[in-house]
Amino acid sequence: MAHKSRPLSTAITKLFDIPYPIIGAPMFLVSNENMVVATSNAGGIGTFPALNFRPMENYRKAIQDIKKETTGPFGINIIVQKSNKYQDQHIDIALEEEVPLIITSLGSPRGILEKVKGTKTKVFCDVVGLEHAKKVADLGAHGLIAVGSGAGGHAGDISLFALIPHIKHHIDLPLIAAGSIADGKGLLAALALGADAVYMGTRMIATKESPVSNDYKNAIVHAESEDIVNTDRVDGFPGNFIRTPSLEPLLAANIVDTVLSQNAKVKRWISLFRAGRALLGNHNQKASYKNVFSAGHGVSGIKSIESIEDVIQNTMQEYFELIQKLPQ
Ligand SMILES: Cc1cc2nc3c(=O)[nH]c(=O)nc-3n(C[C@H](O)[C@H](O)[C@H](O)COP(=O)(O)O)c2cc1C
Repeated sequence: MAHKSRPLSTAITKLFDIPYPIIGAPMFLVSNENMVVATSNAGGIGTFPALNFRPMENYRKAIQDIKKETTGPFGINIIVQKSNKYQDQHIDIALEEEVPLIITSLGSPRGILEKVKGTKTKVFCDVVGLEHAKKVADLGAHGLIAVGSGAGGHAGDISLFALIPHIKHHIDLPLIAAGSIADGKGLLAALALGADAVYMGTRMIATKESPVSNDYKNAIVHAESEDIVNTDRVDGFPGNFIRTPSLEPLLAANIVDTVLSQNAKVKRWISLFRAGRALLGNHNQKASYKNVFSAGHGVSGIKSIESIEDVIQNTMQEYFELIQKLPQ
C-alpha cells in the first residue's frame, strides 16, 4: 500500500520491514482484527491480546483473518503467567500460524523463547524497570517494551523520560516506548530518548476502527491528563482509568478491603484473585473494562476520533515538521 508520509528508519522498522515505527498496543477487550489490519496496512504493526478471542477456534480464526487482510506484520500479546491456562495453546497456534511478533507480559518469557528458536517469530517483552529487562534480555528476548508511568492499562511506576535512557544504557536491544504517546511530539521525544518505536494504546481506542462504545471514545476525547486516576480497585493491579461516574463507587473507601489489605498476605491474595477474575473470568462482572474506561495520561493530546490511517499519517507528518522546528 502506498503511504503519503516518507518512511523512517529505526532498528524496529528495519527488523519488521515497515515504514513507520508505530505499534498499535494490545488492549484487553479492545483490540480486534479490524484495528490490527488497519494499523498494519497503514505502515505500523497492529497487535491484540490472545485472551480477546475465546474459544480457541476464534483465536486461530482471528489470526487467519488478519493474514488474509494484510501482508504487513502483526503481533499477539500473551500473558505468560500460571493463571493463564491457555498460554501454551496461544503460543503453539501463534507459531503454527507464523505470527511475526509475540509480546509477553506479566511473567517470564522463558518458555516462549525456547519454543520460538528456529522460527522467524520475534519475541518482545513488556518491562517496567531494569531488573526485569535484564532478566528477559539474558533469556534471549529479541526486543523490549518499556512501559512508563503514564500508560493506559497497568502502567509502570517510572517516567518514560527516565526509563527509556536507563534501559537503553544497559541493554542493547530494540526498544518500544509505551505510555502517553499519542502524536508526533511523543514519537519524536521517544526516539530522542533512545526508543526505536512507540506503542499507541489510548490514541488507538479513540479511532473509527475501535470496537468500544462511543461513551468510551468520547470520554477519551474529553478527558485531560488530570482526569486519569491510578487505582487497583478495578482488577487488583494499579492501572490508569478515566474518572467517570462508573469509576467513582469503586474509588470510594471500602472498609472491608481497607482492613483486610493491612495484612500483606491477604492483600496479595485479594489482588491476585481480582486480577485473575478480570483477565480470565466473567466479562459481565460489575467492574470490568467494559464499564470503566482505562486510558493513559496522553488523553489530553487526543481531541478527535480519527481513522487509524490518519492517526499514523498525522503522527509522521507532525514528527517530520517538528524536526525542522527544533531549536538548533
Ligand atoms: C484498555 C486497555 C487494555 C489494555 N490491555 C492490555 C493487555 O491485555 N496486555 C498488555 O500487555 N497491555 C495492555 N494494555 C497496555 C497497552 O498495551 C499499552 O502498554 C498502553 O496502552 C500504552 O500507553 P498509552 O495507552 O498511554 O498509549 C492495555 C491498555 C489499555 C488502555
